[in-house]
Amino acid sequence: MAMHYTPIFFLLFLSSFCKSDDQLTRTKPLTHDDILISKGGDFALGFFSPTSSNKSFYLGIWYHSIPGPRTIVWVANRDKPITTPSSAVLTITNGSQMVLSDSKGHNIWTTTNNIVAGGPEAFAVLLDSGNFVVRLSNAKDQMWQSFDHPTDTILPNMRVLVSYKGQVAVSLVAWKGPDDPSSGDFSCGGDPSSPTLQRMIWNGTRPYCRSNVLNGVSVTGGVHLSNASSVLFETSLSLGDGFYYMFTVSGGLTFARLTLDYTGMFRSLNWNPHLSSWTVISESPKAACDLYASCGPFSYCDLTGTVPACQCLDGFEPSDLKFSRGCRRKEELKCDKQSYFVTLPWMRIPDKFWHVKKISFNECAAECSSNCSCIAYAYANLSSVGAMADSSRCLIWTGELVDIGKFSMNYGENLYLRLANTPADKRSSTIKIVLPIVACLLLLTCIALVWICKHRGKMRKKETQKKMMLEYFSTSNELEGENTEFSFISFEDILSATNMFADSNLLGRGGFGKVYKRSQTKQHLVGQRNDSQNFRFWYGKNIWCKPEPSKHYPCRWDIWLHVT
Ligand SMILES: *[C@@H]1O[C@H](CO)[C@@H](O)[C@H](O)[C@H]1NC(C)=O
Ligand SMILES: *[C@@H]1O[C@H](CO)[C@@H](O)[C@H](O)[C@H]1NC(C)=O
Ligand SMILES: *[C@@H]1O[C@H](CO)[C@@H](O)[C@H](O)[C@H]1NC(C)=O
Ligand SMILES: *[C@@H]1O[C@H](CO)[C@@H](O)[C@H](O)[C@H]1NC(C)=O
Ligand SMILES: *[C@@H]1O[C@H](CO)[C@@H](O)[C@H](O)[C@H]1NC(C)=O
Ligand SMILES: *[C@@H]1O[C@H](CO)[C@@H](O)[C@H](O)[C@H]1NC(C)=O
Repeated sequence: MAMHYTPIFFLLFLSSFCKSDDQLTRTKPLTHDDILISKGGDFALGFFSPTSSNKSFYLGIWYHSIPGPRTIVWVANRDKPITTPSSAVLTITNGSQMVLSDSKGHNIWTTTNNIVAGGPEAFAVLLDSGNFVVRLSNAKDQMWQSFDHPTDTILPNMRVLVSYKGQVAVSLVAWKGPDDPSSGDFSCGGDPSSPTLQRMIWNGTRPYCRSNVLNGVSVTGGVHLSNASSVLFETSLSLGDGFYYMFTVSGGLTFARLTLDYTGMFRSLNWNPHLSSWTVISESPKAACDLYASCGPFSYCDLTGTVPACQCLDGFEPSDLKFSRGCRRKEELKCDKQSYFVTLPWMRIPDKFWHVKKISFNECAAECSSNCSCIAYAYANLSSVGAMADSSRCLIWTGELVDIGKFSMNYGENLYLRLANTPADKRSSTIKIVLPIVACLLLLTCIALVWICKHRGKMRKKETQKKMMLEYFSTSNELEGENTEFSFISFEDILSATNMFADSNLLGRGGFGKVYKRSQTKQHLVGQRNDSQNFRFWYGKNIWCKPEPSKHYPCRWDIWLHVT
């Protein structure tokens, strides 16, 4: 008998659910003073005016549960403001479209779909993710969603279609000014010449700042708020003809967002409830020399030092003192003469490359060295990025090398650059300079040996500690091997990793793994996971706190994945 009544209760529940504040229905349109509030109270949708003096009104979504000035994450009618707000109304048509109209019944903004009128009734709902979706009452799938039409902001778990069938799809377009949501000059999206491989911030039609080239290395940033630790992971994934960009966050990040602002700055931000303000996790451009091609050809923006500056690539010297014309070769390449390739690590590799498909690393190297006009190459295996038909990524360069960057540690990749004479030639010509240096080094080595003998006991103790940690975390000894590789991280991995975010693992311990040992940056094991085949470690590095860890001064770090 009880079972018999269940459908009725269910219907009652549904009908009361439909009247709740997070929904727009045929019978309940949204007018000027109404707002929809997502179920958990995180987001609100309604009409807003950016300034009190300006009489332009927009339909938008903002954070409902944070205090202070509204942070708008989405605007429907950014280029068609409403001037008589009292008459504005958002409705759902019987054709399942949403329509924003003014007093004269003019459509200011509509959604599109291919549903014929007269079918099942549609409703729209504002979700706690910040996504505003149109659904049919008899189906779970969405007909339309605001996540497919971003303004200037990407929210967690929002899948942005960067390219479709090799063509640029969705871009972010910045506001025109701090109080002007209309489409500004700056935009950010896939680069048309290689939309799956790199993203670009544009100033109008001119490149402004370029991302790293997709290389299978997960570039991540993290925020550590004294007692709550969390990370923000960026992911690229390829599904069928679509290539997507997405980021996810682990618990502890209150509200994270990526925003392209009206000055052309692309930032990842997190809401800090203690400071009641947005904390910057990372930003791009990182420096003046990080702007597109600003260092000139054959020069790179060196971001490893405290003051970023243009530098010449190995084998090059400045064309003039100010680097405005870049760098020139110290010794010209001659096709008939022997040349060799120097390896430059941690680079943001240059723009204007040729993508040679479906070849191995060795074939890629041969492709470049066998062709006189090839001056550099770079290689990556993108098998971790998802269902890519061709996971090899061989890039070669023939002209000038522009817009190069050098990062500390995990961000960049190897660039193999062709130089004129062989290292052997160089050695014979410089032997006179090198000899006295060698003598000095020998003397220093003797001094060092004495010092090492003194401190051996101390070092042994550290070595034992390290071994113990490795045995604890690993069933194999492969971590010690040189055969390391980076990989993308799935959301499950993130969850798994963040379970391990205990303070004891984060601060005060370090020195794991000889591969990444560096004097200036501390590394900390922040998570581990043993799946069937691989043993994975997450290392944090560049942990810094201003001025010291406390509730009000969050620590931040970059973390990366290490697969053995
Ligand atoms: C308000 O701002 C919009 C967008 O910048 C502009 O087009 C409009 O002219 C402004 N209106 C007033 C009354 O200042
Ligand atoms: C849908 O709306 C249009 C005009 O808005 C009307 O002509 C049509 O009869 C409606 N169809 C149904 C099935 O209600
Ligand atoms: C963007 O380009 C315009 C010219 O197209 C220029 O006036 C402006 O200074 C540029 N903005 C930045 C931040 O470089
Ligand atoms: C962090 O500490 C504050 C008070 O010091 C407490 O209210 C909050 O719940 C803590 N957060 C976590 C995630 O432990
Ligand atoms: C060398 O590479 C360039 C650019 O990819 C190409 O146009 C040219 O045909 C190649 N030359 C040879 C001999 O393969
Ligand atoms: C890329 O890496 C995967 C997994 O390590 C491997 O199976 C595949 O053969 C590699 N592809 C190329 C082109 O090297």
